[in-house]
Amino acid sequence: MSSKQHELSETLTDNLVNFNNLHEMLTQYGQQHVLQHWSHLNSQEQSNLTAQLSGIDLAELASLVNGQDEDTDFGALARRASSPPAVRADGSGADWSPVQARERGERALRNGELGAVIVAGGQGTRLGFDQPKGMFPIGPVSGRTLFQFFADRLLAVNEKYGCRIPLYIMTSDATDQETRKYFAANENLGIPAEDLYIFKQGVMPAVDAATGKLLMQSTSSLALSPDGHGGTVSALHGCGCLADAAKRGIQHLAYIQVDNPLAHLCEPELIGHHLMAASEMTTQVVQKRHPTEKVGNVVLVDGQVQIIEYSDLPESAAEATHEDGSLKLWAGNIAVHLFNLDFLQRVVGQADSLPFHRALKKVPFCDDRGQLVTPAEPNATKFERFIFDLLPIANNAFVVESRASEAFAPVKNANGAETDTPNTAKKAIVDLHRHWLEEAGLCVDQGVQVEINPRLALKVSDLPKKIATNQRIDTDRYFDTQLES
Ligand code: UD1
Repeated sequence: MSSKQHELSETLTDNLVNFNNLHEMLTQYGQQHVLQHWSHLNSQEQSNLTAQLSGIDLAELASLVNGQDEDTDFGALARRASSPPAVRADGSGADWSPVQARERGERALRNGELGAVIVAGGQGTRLGFDQPKGMFPIGPVSGRTLFQFFADRLLAVNEKYGCRIPLYIMTSDATDQETRKYFAANENLGIPAEDLYIFKQGVMPAVDAATGKLLMQSTSSLALSPDGHGGTVSALHGCGCLADAAKRGIQHLAYIQVDNPLAHLCEPELIGHHLMAASEMTTQVVQKRHPTEKVGNVVLVDGQVQIIEYSDLPESAAEATHEDGSLKLWAGNIAVHLFNLDFLQRVVGQADSLPFHRALKKVPFCDDRGQLVTPAEPNATKFERFIFDLLPIANNAFVVESRASEAFAPVKNANGAETDTPNTAKKAIVDLHRHWLEEAGLCVDQGVQVEINPRLALKVSDLPKKIATNQRIDTDRYFDTQLES
């Protein structure tokens, strides 16, 4: 036998062993159909499929499909829910003042105790943008992207407090490559390479909603999707970022979603509240604009802070009011959290610390004949973990209210939709920055668009000392690092 023939025969034997092992493993769970096209796949395709299958916990999937994990009765939960104790936007509700909180937070920043996490794995389908959402140009005058907003903010915080906050950005299969290319092509948006980590979240398979069988995206590939932002913790651990943060002496991670240009990433007052409350997880909320606004509801149930997603909250509970007409469940989740690093390190080891949520979705799939089918109706169950499900297991979970006009302008839907569009977010940025400039003594003409880079001012009180003259702003203006044009 020539060496080439020998190699080929070894490969074939390996493949057979591989096939037999896979087949045996899959048969235990009734999922062997995923190998039905195996003999037509080339060796690269076979190894890809093998790699995908070995990344799946089939026993866990079987228990999810069989509904063995306890399905939450959100109706019952909502009946027991009240609004959580919170530091309100006017500073009431805590044993310390906002000034004390800010000073405490500033100290933590100066001591280098903070790291930052941005989750950017979502696909922006509702927005109709085919690049990673972080690359969406949201600056109303500057055209800066969402990623630039946060990079500028972090650089401004670094400069102001003399620290070096590492930035951990979570991507998914759908956003990873483009995000990396974007940062590389733009000099990491000014963030030193040694302080920037881009890491990919995990995946979960989609199953046929009726039968629980794994869906195939092609004859050689499973239909996989991101495992939800609850995957952040294990992904941070897996990529070594938790260890990196610990090595740097970081004690807290500030977490935001990529879709909110007003998110207060590493804001001292919020950090201070988190520290003064000795909380393992603190979440920032806003008053819901209307009862059924599409935000998670931050509630207190049986003494524990937790979030009931808008899609899970019965309308009657969403609409319930106090005698004065105010909403009983007023606190809306804006997905801005602070985590103790110790807490995250502890929960990494607890496989079941985060439950899975199910969603019924339309997922194109490859049928038995190898043909791609695009379903007209939802056909598949997807499983996702939500990061906010860590709240009930965090010690001293804490809630801090801020004003939506200062902290929440999500970019979710395409222009034309009623809310949460690029246009509504741009307007919120302009309104806020106009307000700051007016407070600082400038006069901004009606209809004029203004935008301030955080490197000039992180908040209104950073402005006055930089103002040289009383100015009238009569044309659209982007204030980069100077107030004067
Ligand atoms: C989310 C929250 C909702 C909150 C709202 C605030 C959930 C389930 N709901 O709603 O409570 O009020 O934001 O804007 O989170 N992402 C990943 N990987 C994933 C899934 C999502 O990185 O696997 C990121 C996305 O890039 C996005 C963010 O998480 O930045 C939010 O995800 P999305 O599914 O759009 O949640 P919403 O329905 O907007």
